[in-house]
Amino acid sequence: MAPRADDVQTVASGLLTAGVSTLCDSKLGRYAIGTACLAAAYNFLLTPKQQKTKEHFDNRSSRFKALQQKHFPPGFPNTWHAVCNAADLTDGQVKSISALGTELVAFRGADGKAAVLDAFCPHMGAHLGFGGQVVGNTIQCPFHGWSFDGSGTCHRIPYTTRLTEEVKEGAKIKAYETRELLGRIFIWFDAEGRPPQWDLAAGLDLEEAVTRGDCYPVAMRCSIFHQHCCEMHMNSADPFHFQTLHAPLPIPGLGRFIKGIHRIRTIYGEGEIRGKVEKHQHLTLFKEKTMGLYLFGKKRWPVPFSATVAQLIDTVVTFEGPNMMHFKLITPLGTIRQIKTILPIEPFKQQVEMYWYAEKSVPRIIAYLLSLIGKVALEQDLEVWENKLYWKEPVLVEGDGPFQEFFDWYGQFYSQSSSQVGRHQLEW
Ligand code: FES
Ligand SMILES: [Fe+2]
Repeated sequence: MAPRADDVQTVASGLLTAGVSTLCDSKLGRYAIGTACLAAAYNFLLTPKQQKTKEHFDNRSSRFKALQQKHFPPGFPNTWHAVCNAADLTDGQVKSISALGTELVAFRGADGKAAVLDAFCPHMGAHLGFGGQVVGNTIQCPFHGWSFDGSGTCHRIPYTTRLTEEVKEGAKIKAYETRELLGRIFIWFDAEGRPPQWDLAAGLDLEEAVTRGDCYPVAMRCSIFHQHCCEMHMNSADPFHFQTLHAPLPIPGLGRFIKGIHRIRTIYGEGEIRGKVEKHQHLTLFKEKTMGLYLFGKKRWPVPFSATVAQLIDTVVTFEGPNMMHFKLITPLGTIRQIKTILPIEPFKQQVEMYWYAEKSVPRIIAYLLSLIGKVALEQDLEVWENKLYWKEPVLVEGDGPFQEFFDWYGQFYSQSSSQVGRHQLEW
């Protein structure tokens, strides 16, 4: 009869134990074991281990930046940009702003009007945002005390009485047209120096609702995205990416198991102003609807009641120019709104601010949780956005979205000098 495997193992381990204990009992044996252990450790430490491939591709490398600059539109579109908050300018504070290929300073004079000027003093180049002081309706330079009003005109030089029109003309600082909305300060930025081509209107009803107390602020979030400012808006022309990047439910931990199906519709040249759809070239109207949730994205495994609940919720977004978005989440509990602004700090570095509000009827906790979900949903694109290029003539097929319409619409925010803005300062 052949020996059983168990018997063989028992005999082998018995012999091994006996051998080791015999070795340990003798001096020579202990020496041999110690040497063997040292040799094993030596081999273990010096033998190269299998490793993952080293990451060669650094999306911040100069080569990648050069590719981006070659392919993308210029970094600073002609539009309204939210440059700072009203809270930055309380109690005579001045705010330095480094964005849009330039340096700016914001202050609020005694007349209560917020002003934004180019930051460098025409006298000897001091930065008015560092040490400048608000005096009456002017900002006073920290270096030699010249004072400039909100239009950038020099009103006082402390050591001369000869402030002639000629000196004033030479000492004029560039001033930007400003608007205040919901505690944010916007400037009109235009590469050609033209006056505003249109005015902010899509958030006025929300501001009035907040003032009346019909809406309340929910959350304010700020993120830095290393990408071009066109990317978020380009989503409006891209229905299929909602079935890939945005399929996972944007709730941490659940996205792997539960996927949503979305339908979107985009109309360029229209948007919602005070709840009514209006036609204006600078607007885009975007509607999204989640059709239901499915386990592992399988249509045969729907999440119970998800389609019914999803039917009750509508998302309507008005893009007001390229860098401001007004989200409306219409739910049976009331409407939740978000104003999102994108400020290009550099051509490929965006300060994204998200301000959430809700109607009184919406419980604060629900609105707050939705604002968190909104943040996760936004970040679903991030890895692609921060590492992609922009093809002016992409290969498109049937089923792709209205990219050409988007390119045409987006082109209106650039002009002849757009590609020159900030070049000398940013070395790009
Ligand atoms: S540098 Fe501003 S007053 Fe001289
Ligand atoms: Fe997206």
